[in-house]
Amino acid sequence: MQKQSELYRGKAKTVHTTDDPNFLILEFRDDTSAFDGERIEQLARKGMVNNRFNHFIMEKLTAAGVPTQLERLLSDTESLVKNLDMIPVECVVRNLAAGSLVRRLGVEEGMALTPPTFELFLKNDELHDPMINESHAIAFGWATAEQLAEMKRLTLKVNEVLQALFDEAGMLLVDYKLEFGLFNGEIVLGDEFSPDGCRLWDKETREKLDKDRFRQGLGGVVEAYEEVAKRLGVPLPA
Ligand code: C5P
Repeated sequence: MQKQSELYRGKAKTVHTTDDPNFLILEFRDDTSAFDGERIEQLARKGMVNNRFNHFIMEKLTAAGVPTQLERLLSDTESLVKNLDMIPVECVVRNLAAGSLVRRLGVEEGMALTPPTFELFLKNDELHDPMINESHAIAFGWATAEQLAEMKRLTLKVNEVLQALFDEAGMLLVDYKLEFGLFNGEIVLGDEFSPDGCRLWDKETREKLDKDRFRQGLGGVVEAYEEVAKRLGVPLPA
């Protein structure tokens, strides 16, 4: 598969076209951004860790019956993926209260959410990804009711699989964001799953092992990502 031109440069990943219109190359960069791109820093090794981490998680999800865009690892920082027609709606599941939920509802960080909450956000940087509901998504044509139902089913299936995986490795999956797209009419999990887009806490100490370390200036960001990868058994080059 030959890499061709740059299709889209996001905050942490670049998407390249290939000689086959059905496939794209995702390049994971070291750029780390927070607050809608207001703060951006280069963190050495982050692109490589996230690429390997994403590949590991997507393989687990595929094995559990969740269709994903991932085809194969191409290099330390690149993966070959299916070219999805992305749905501009982000799905967020929360098992414990944190982040914008705490700010919005004034609840205590760390409160257990039973059953887990499921929220939708519009993917739109200029509007700061506002929270939306199903009727907005349908009325504005961002997704159909059937697509939203499938996105919710798959997002909760991911929760089942990954909560167990992280639990066995001594971590709590606090919350995460997923994005989906269409490939030959099927809803497929796209984008990435990495500590950039989820919250992970140590089960015993509740130490933060995700991008909140960057957002909150706690330091040791990539070290934490590498610790998560090590606990899960994700192979990382030295
Ligand atoms: O900020 P908030 O608490 O709503 O984020 C919930 C989860 O979704 C967090 O794990 C966060 O990293 C992720 N998220 C994301 N990209 C966004 C919004 C949220 O990865 N644009």
